[in-house]
Amino acid sequence: MAPDASGADPRISASSIRLRKGGEPVVCLTAYTYPIARLLDDHVDLLLVGDSVAMVLHGHKTTLGASLEMMIAHGQAVMRGSTKACVVVDMPAGSYEATPRQAVASARRVVGETGCQAVKLEGGVTVARQIAAIVAAGIPVMGHIGLQPQSVESDGGYRIKGRTDENVAALYRDAEAVEKAGAFSVVIEGTVETVAADLTRHVSIPTIGIGASGDCDGQILVIDDMVGLTVDRVPKFVKQYADLRSVVSQAAASYAAEVRSRTFPGPSHVFSAAADKSEP
Ligand code: KIV
Repeated sequence: MAPDASGADPRISASSIRLRKGGEPVVCLTAYTYPIARLLDDHVDLLLVGDSVAMVLHGHKTTLGASLEMMIAHGQAVMRGSTKACVVVDMPAGSYEATPRQAVASARRVVGETGCQAVKLEGGVTVARQIAAIVAAGIPVMGHIGLQPQSVESDGGYRIKGRTDENVAALYRDAEAVEKAGAFSVVIEGTVETVAADLTRHVSIPTIGIGASGDCDGQILVIDDMVGLTVDRVPKFVKQYADLRSVVSQAAASYAAEVRSRTFPGPSHVFSAAADKSEP
């Protein structure tokens, strides 16, 4: 994004999100495409180009279907469609876990090719060295603890976290590791409400909840779930604010009926020999 005339970047920065701890809730949504980024940009603080794109738009069974190239292409589209929001792009599975060096190379590629403000990666203690290395390279990082969709296969499914003492202790270790490594915020997903609220009070960086707690410093939802476009079952934590599936399906049915009855295209959708003012 080019700086404005004053030289300042008009976008919300990762460091200004960091300062929102305990303040006005941080409004976040996922976005994967140019038109949706344009529609959401005025309403949110942060747009996440989540690796959920692999499931939501590409029809993969899990987020493991995401690649660096996929994330970069969607990151570029969202950057073209937004001017204000802090844009964070997910690092897909396989692009950062091996070594801090691999993580920095992937993060540099994502930021270099999209111009996004920050990257997100899943994990706590196990990826703390990666987070610290990316931050040391000058790239802000958002953490992601609790339920981690990239680990669903090794976890044996989508399991809510924080239901045993052992797991709560692990969540604390993860939250502390992400904070200490220098992340500017951390997503807490699919975690018992009271545990997510306690974790929010425990760390100094903003927590962004999804299936977590209303006490988190911000909230995020997957855009397609939120507007009722998701075809498969949506998780319990989703609140659907619109029913676009019905809207699209009714529009398709009306179109099909009009094509079959030859009522579309009508006189206003075809061209006459002489050009008129309404033509594109
Ligand atoms: O990939 C994604 O959409 C996410 C959010 C659900 C936090 O990680």
